[in-house]
Amino acid sequence: MCGVVGYTGKKPAAPWLLDGLATLEYRGYDSAGIQVISPSGNLHGVKCAGRVATLRERCDSANPVGTCGIGHTRWATHGAPTDKNAHPHTDCSGRIAVVHNGIIENFQELKRELMAAGHTFKSETDTEVIAHLVEDAWAGPAKGDLVAALRNACDRLEGAWAIACVCADVPNQIVVTRKSSPLVVCSTDEGAYVASDVMPLASVASSVLQLQDNDFALLSEDGRVEITNREGEKVEHPETITIDWDASAATLGGYSDFMAKEISEQPEAIERLLTNRLGEHGIEMDELSMSKEELASIDRIYIIACGTSYHVGLIAKSLIEKWAKIPVSCEYASEFNYSDVLVTPHTMCVIITQSGETADTLTAARRMKGMGSTVFAITNVLGSSAARESDGTLYIQAGPEVAVASTKAYTAQMAASVLLALRLAFANGSMSREEVERRYHELEAIPGLIREVLARRWQPRQAAKLFRDKHSALFLGRGVNSTTAYEGALKLKEISYLHAEAYPAGEMKHGPIALLEPGFPVVAIVPADSVHDKTVSNIQESIARGAVVLAVATDGDEAVAKLCQDVLWIPPVENEMLVPLVAVVHLQMLARFVARARGLDVDKPRNLAKSVTVE
Ligand code: F6R
Repeated sequence: MCGVVGYTGKKPAAPWLLDGLATLEYRGYDSAGIQVISPSGNLHGVKCAGRVATLRERCDSANPVGTCGIGHTRWATHGAPTDKNAHPHTDCSGRIAVVHNGIIENFQELKRELMAAGHTFKSETDTEVIAHLVEDAWAGPAKGDLVAALRNACDRLEGAWAIACVCADVPNQIVVTRKSSPLVVCSTDEGAYVASDVMPLASVASSVLQLQDNDFALLSEDGRVEITNREGEKVEHPETITIDWDASAATLGGYSDFMAKEISEQPEAIERLLTNRLGEHGIEMDELSMSKEELASIDRIYIIACGTSYHVGLIAKSLIEKWAKIPVSCEYASEFNYSDVLVTPHTMCVIITQSGETADTLTAARRMKGMGSTVFAITNVLGSSAARESDGTLYIQAGPEVAVASTKAYTAQMAASVLLALRLAFANGSMSREEVERRYHELEAIPGLIREVLARRWQPRQAAKLFRDKHSALFLGRGVNSTTAYEGALKLKEISYLHAEAYPAGEMKHGPIALLEPGFPVVAIVPADSVHDKTVSNIQESIARGAVVLAVATDGDEAVAKLCQDVLWIPPVENEMLVPLVAVVHLQMLARFVARARGLDVDKPRNLAKSVTVE
């Protein structure tokens, strides 16, 4: 949720800390701050509410000088997004500073105890207790050993954390640790670095070390990184992640915003995923790490995810049930964690998570594993917790997704779900090899169709005008495209702040139709498919009540063109189950154009963060 960075070495720390934070800003952007150890051996902190750009301006005048420092970009949990609550947080002496991602669940109790012992608190955050606990340890049992001091402090904590800590008394050291929140470190000739994920490190290293829960790493100015576990024993072979994409993949590359860039990258992302997939098992998916017999015996599947990834799950459910004939439940992770589960000896759990770090999804996966289910992850982020904790992982290989609103991961995850459904269908004999190949070739055609939609971007740009001065919109679709409606509405509301509601078109008359009044915008997904005419009837019902209908329809659909105010045209898609992959692209562009027309930052919508690491 929050982003953590740190650097100690030969170079001035502040410029890299600020660049690193800008790269991590997708994790939260309520406030930001850095703390550098100055040449005179004191902490020099600069922090403020707002974005990293504001912090940069503050740093321009405050000029924090030093070659060792830590930084943070915040998604507020405890305490409002104010200057005072911005990290880093310091102890009473002002010589120890910490940054933290996660939640300290027992902070109230610790804070009471620390205050009773004379500590003075300056913020409302849970994080500040860590600085004071380190202060006590540093003054007592761990004097001179920052790793021991942080270990001592962590022994008192409950919850989840990724922490970086500096102390002005050991001016070239950073100590970091994690529990249930990601943290990676790397060693270079110019110094040692730490970050919440690989993105800020792609410009300085080609591989990073992944810390495990309760690992502690001591970063030294000569670039050394020493990792020990909770017991203080050296970790001999830390897991290495090779950064297999160029740092430029996380830059704008000429686009005005990351959302535009990522929408346009969808065809290539799907093509990468489809490479070398056809083979003797129908679809080759070694990532499943299951034999054909094990796959054939699966009798129940739980798909668990959140947000946009949950929408992928709904489509995956339809695909698997239709093609592989296996009953599937698709669950919101946050709800699933508190509901009853029916696990058979042959139940499979599929988690879908772009970031691989969504706390609710990870909790659900652990719960399923605990009940004996095999857990398979569909994720984008290499070495993420989802990948590390699952029995098998299919990486969608979409490249870094920076914009908070998920676009390319959505379609790539959907393509991955198509492959999974085909693999299961072939394994259990529900589909012949010929049929699998046919479906695969239909999927192979999708990137070309998405390119055609992208070339029609003028259509959603023009249609965005229909939402001028509107406060609400209703999205309708049937079958697999009810999910396209859900996703279109989610995209619109999250980046344009326009209220948008989505319903299966047939449900409209059971309540939402009461919303309709003259001029009310309705977006209807009505491709040429088996439920087309039924959806047209719902469009007519909307128009009869004065709604302004924007359709997503298949080229040549004169009937829909005549009925609706405007149409976003998609080329014909051979298999109607695959229409969502193409139709959603118009809705992604529509949301972006509406948000831009409202003067909003499409990459960093208010209150949101890309990686939701709290439950
Ligand atoms: C919406 C969006 C979120 C995420 C959700 C799950 O555009 O991005 O709804 O889909 O927070 O995130 P992951 O897929 O990382 O688990």
